[in-house]
Amino acid sequence: MKVDILLGLQWGDEGKGKIVDYLSQKYDVIARFQGGPNAGHSLEFNGIKHVLHTIPSGVFHDKTINIIGNGVVIDPILFKKEVEELINLGVNPFENVVISKKAHIIIPSHKALDSASEQAKGKNKIGSTLKGIGPTYMDKTGRNGLRIGNITEPNFKEKYNDLVLKHKNILKQFNFEFNSEETEPQFFEAIEFLKKFEHINSEFEINSLLNQNNKILAEGAQGSLLDIDFGTYPFVTSSNTVSAGACIGLGIAPSKIGKVYGIFKAYVTRVGSGPFITELHDEVGSEIRSIGKEYGATTGRPRRCGWMDLVILKYVVMINGVTDLIMTKSDVLDSFETIKIATAYIKDDVISENMPFDIEGWKPIYKEMKGWNCKTSDLKNEKEMPAEMKDYISFIEQETGVKVSIVSLGPDREQTICR
Ligand code: GDP
Ligand code: IMO
Ligand code: MG
Repeated sequence: MKVDILLGLQWGDEGKGKIVDYLSQKYDVIARFQGGPNAGHSLEFNGIKHVLHTIPSGVFHDKTINIIGNGVVIDPILFKKEVEELINLGVNPFENVVISKKAHIIIPSHKALDSASEQAKGKNKIGSTLKGIGPTYMDKTGRNGLRIGNITEPNFKEKYNDLVLKHKNILKQFNFEFNSEETEPQFFEAIEFLKKFEHINSEFEINSLLNQNNKILAEGAQGSLLDIDFGTYPFVTSSNTVSAGACIGLGIAPSKIGKVYGIFKAYVTRVGSGPFITELHDEVGSEIRSIGKEYGATTGRPRRCGWMDLVILKYVVMINGVTDLIMTKSDVLDSFETIKIATAYIKDDVISENMPFDIEGWKPIYKEMKGWNCKTSDLKNEKEMPAEMKDYISFIEQETGVKVSIVSLGPDREQTICR
């Protein structure tokens, strides 16, 4: 058995939650390997719409084991809230969610540091979700972090106090007001709540599940262009969102990786700052936002919208070793007479089909394709697809060299076509 991976190929929000939930029926285990509550993964079925942040998207299936891996960062306060919301929906995460002892903890002063850093950057801010992700990963690599395995140790409070003191010293330099006493009762109450979950050595658990022939799907958060190494740095998140991140964030060897599902929207969106070559500042962009309901699932911010970009897609297919493509939200383009797709970039008369070191300042070269101009959200199989949609898919397959094996035509679990 091998571990399959599903990840976003753009700047996040490609529909990972929906597709993981759809694929869950084929898997015994769903494991998150990076990111934290900066993620917002939406799932819709039986008329229920739900957004998950830290909990893997297999949680609605009783028999699925949901692992929060060592590469994830956890905010105990937000985690407790997320679990309580699930309990209200009749789900029992105590039964099917387990947490790696090596996962790092976001403490309230990490969130203050995130805000202070963004404030100091002014107009150059990243547009962070302000969930404390960057500062927590900095403490991890700086070897100062607190981990889930520490919370049951007698000196946890002492370790926490040491870290808060360090943070307060940095916050002073930022002239940033932060009162740790205000947030502490809620934080420690959430730590007690976290103790009710099973804390595991997830690298052993996952390898043993694999050896016992269980089917495992690793669920990525964010998208490849937000990857700390390969994304549009510095406008990125602080973890490795690409497929290699699954090995590090779960403790699985590269030789154990099977399929890599790469998911992309039929157009492109981005929340937060940073370059975006095919961004549309006109009515077409507003129309995509309005039809696609492109507002952040975590922060509610409007998402920037633009045309499909093949330079990006080809780059991330290479980095991730994508074996299967999944296209989502093509139904959002149902009313467009023509659809554009960037095939190369141009800057100072230089044309590039490859991703440049910095995409800032490059302009798109588009291929125009005829839109399908009809309703597709009710389609049940590939045969019913309009010819123009098939052409759009074929062109993407031809350019990337990878098959589009799933097409999503609406937010509901049922609105999915396997090809
Ligand atoms: P994730 O972060 O990758 O899980 O994606 P988000 O949940 O943040 O954003 C995707 C949004 O699009 C959610 O509101 C989904 O319900 C919705 N969605 C997912 N797939 C489709 C689709 O094929 N068509 C439409 N119209 N909406 C979709
Ligand atoms: P999912 O998993 C879209 C973006 C933020 C910001 C940058 C850094 O739902 O696809 P951070 O909070 O990590 O310091 O923010 O990354 N970002 C996301 N954009 N979807 C996400 O997650 C994101 N997680 C972070 O908007 O630009
Ligand atoms: Mg999202």
